[in-house]
Amino acid sequence: MYLCTMATKILLCIAFFVLLFNAGVEKASASDFLSNLRGSHKGDTVEGISVLKKYLQDIGYIKSDPSNTNISTNIFDDLLESALETYQSYYGLNVTGFLDDNTVSLLSQPRCGVPDFPEERTDYSFFPGKPKWWTYNLTFAFAQGTQFYTLAPVAKALEDWGSVSPFRFSLKGFDEANFKISFQPFYGPHQPLAYSLEPTAGKLHFNVHERWVSGKVPGGYDIESVALHEIGHLLGLEHSKDFHSIMYAYFWPNTVKITLQPDDIQGLKVLYGF
Ligand SMILES: *[C@@H]1O[C@H](CO)[C@@H](O)[C@H](O)[C@H]1NC(C)=O
Ligand SMILES: *[C@@H]1O[C@H](CO)[C@@H](O)[C@H](O)[C@H]1NC(C)=O
Ligand SMILES: *[C@@H]1O[C@H](CO)[C@@H](O)[C@H](O)[C@H]1NC(C)=O
Repeated sequence: MYLCTMATKILLCIAFFVLLFNAGVEKASASDFLSNLRGSHKGDTVEGISVLKKYLQDIGYIKSDPSNTNISTNIFDDLLESALETYQSYYGLNVTGFLDDNTVSLLSQPRCGVPDFPEERTDYSFFPGKPKWWTYNLTFAFAQGTQFYTLAPVAKALEDWGSVSPFRFSLKGFDEANFKISFQPFYGPHQPLAYSLEPTAGKLHFNVHERWVSGKVPGGYDIESVALHEIGHLLGLEHSKDFHSIMYAYFWPNTVKITLQPDDIQGLKVLYGF
């Protein structure tokens, strides 16, 4: 029997006795900095444009380049137009180059904090340089103080990835584990739901200020669904353009999305060659 299966049973047992509850801290709104900008075009100067440019940089649409001083201006310039066109094309929106309603609406949605990699031609994508693990036997650990009710859904998500690949996951001490999982605060105007590092850094941070739940709950985010996505990052997958894939960057409250799709599995197969 695989260790993960055993671990899951133990965790499910523990979770059974633990009341479901959540931190219930105030939720950050990703849309605040965008409300002012609806309808803006190239040539406009609007308060908040520089925040949008920084956001587009954070999610992969403007290259990080310290000599690029345009990023800090509130001018809707070529830099912003071209970033928006790439974003619109990646997400199958009309490529208008301005802040039309559909674009503002998608930009305002909750998502993973890992940037997109819009240069890829396939739906699935990898981190630059295609980093991956040297073994299929990986270990995981939760930071001290992690709430019990979050453990079983994360373990279940690990097991799901194991069921479509040669990967096997077992619990280990936090310092030695390949995957270090924790709930932490994020800072800034556009807080992601979660964030993970590529192989072999192995860090997964859930945003502790979100309302984490199991299943479909209004205003709550399903832990297992988000864990499945983030573990994809830990294994070396980047975001997918395929709306149905687990690796699609956006995720909504009151939603359960826990079935790995052909696009997700194909991405992992191509990366590891199994
Ligand atoms: C940078 O800003 C200057 C001044 O507003 C503008 O002329 C130039 O086109 C901008 N460059 C890009 C790439 O947007
Ligand atoms: C694209 O534009 C057309 C025509 O204006 C509109 O009917 C359609 O809904 C738009 N699609 C998207 C995804 O924005
Ligand atoms: C991986 O783990 C399995 C079961 O836990 C074990 O049978 C196998 O020998 C391990 N492989 C390596 C390369 O450590």
